[in-house]
Amino acid sequence: MADPSLTSLVTELAKLAADYVPPTGHDAASQAPKVALVNLSKKIMYSLMDPGMLVQAHSLQMAEMVSIRTLLDLKVFEKIPTGDGQTITAKELSEKSGVQDTLLERLLRPLVASGFITQSSDGSYGSTKFSQAYISFPGLFFTLMFDHFLQPMTDLPKYLKTHGPVEPTSFYVNPYSDYHQASDSGLTTWEIMSKDPEKLKTFQIGLTLGDTMVPVTGYYDFDQLALTPEELERDPDRVSLVDIGGGVGNVVKRILQDYKKLNPKNVVLQDQDNIIDMADKEKTPPEGVRLVKHDFWGPQPIKGAKAYYFRRVFHDYSDELCAKALRQIVPAMAPDSRILIADMLLPDIMTEKEAHTAALDVACMVMGGKERTEDDFRRLFDSVGLDLVAIHRAPGAAAGVVEGKLKTE
Ligand SMILES: C[S@@+](CC[C@H](N)C(=O)[O-])C[C@H]1O[C@@H](n2cnc3c(N)ncnc32)[C@H](O)[C@@H]1O
Repeated sequence: MADPSLTSLVTELAKLAADYVPPTGHDAASQAPKVALVNLSKKIMYSLMDPGMLVQAHSLQMAEMVSIRTLLDLKVFEKIPTGDGQTITAKELSEKSGVQDTLLERLLRPLVASGFITQSSDGSYGSTKFSQAYISFPGLFFTLMFDHFLQPMTDLPKYLKTHGPVEPTSFYVNPYSDYHQASDSGLTTWEIMSKDPEKLKTFQIGLTLGDTMVPVTGYYDFDQLALTPEELERDPDRVSLVDIGGGVGNVVKRILQDYKKLNPKNVVLQDQDNIIDMADKEKTPPEGVRLVKHDFWGPQPIKGAKAYYFRRVFHDYSDELCAKALRQIVPAMAPDSRILIADMLLPDIMTEKEAHTAALDVACMVMGGKERTEDDFRRLFDSVGLDLVAIHRAPGAAAGVVEGKLKTE
């Protein structure tokens, strides 16, 4: 007899597929119908699989990830021809890459099984959209996730046995530092990473890819931070926006491009000394933006700004450390000042839509950081005397700007 839950899922899939038009945009909203189709297909697959099949699927994923990472390192994918119907034998691939042919065959097998590459009836190998794309940016993000997060993550059970079954919260002792045998070194995660310039580079390039996950503009109206004529008369130097940990200034540049009411001279970019030097040298921030070297663990020097903005900073830190950073700003805030935190937002109840955010949360955990829910932010704000006044959600993305202000009572 037919399984009614399976038939109803398949009917739903057929309906979605009938209305499906491949997206042209790359933003989360445009991609949503495709994501819905993929998630539903996965649901159908899982409804059919028994637990033993899931173990087999996980084993394949493990072998697939290790094979991809290894073959990226050995620069094998770029040697597989990309022309229509073109293939290459293991022997030819071995000659071109200098990798033993039998090793190649063993690493390529799981990739044929998963669909990452193809194999013809004569045994030769062909590329796919995946193997071609992994040669460039997506591959770098994969490498970032593998080298910096997966490797320490595989030791999480061991880490928790030593440190107790609680969230890692320190920037000095966490799965990343344990994995690098540096938990006694007194070095932060970044300092450990900086010791390996190649790895640091992968991390930074990979991060630029992650940039789109927390869109900069389009959902919080930065124009509202422009100074009114009365405010300008009272204090012409009042700051509209302080971008704390703002990097070399790409974010303020984007904000000022899209929100024309903001005057660059009322915008401040703060970061560590070397980053501000770089911003100054590269002239990334628009003319007029004030560049300030500032360590956000120390008291905030800009008093009474309309908004203090952190983008993609808080998820690197535990609640204790985020509270410490916020406490540096609270004394500088005016009654109408706002704290704005742009980050990923986890839902209270997980759905497949936010799967990637949940994955990144576990990745952040490796370095003692975390992604947060709306309630997590509310509790964090409350702990330092702030009220959460609004959440501005980025359309179609699991991200937003969380807005806080001083408590009024
Ligand atoms: C993940 S990046 C985010 C950059 C930028 N906000 C964005 O969204 O592209 C984190 C930034 O925080 C800065 N940062 C880290 N620790 C800092 C500190 N103690 N004081 C000031 N900035 C810091 C880093 O230099 C880096 O530019």
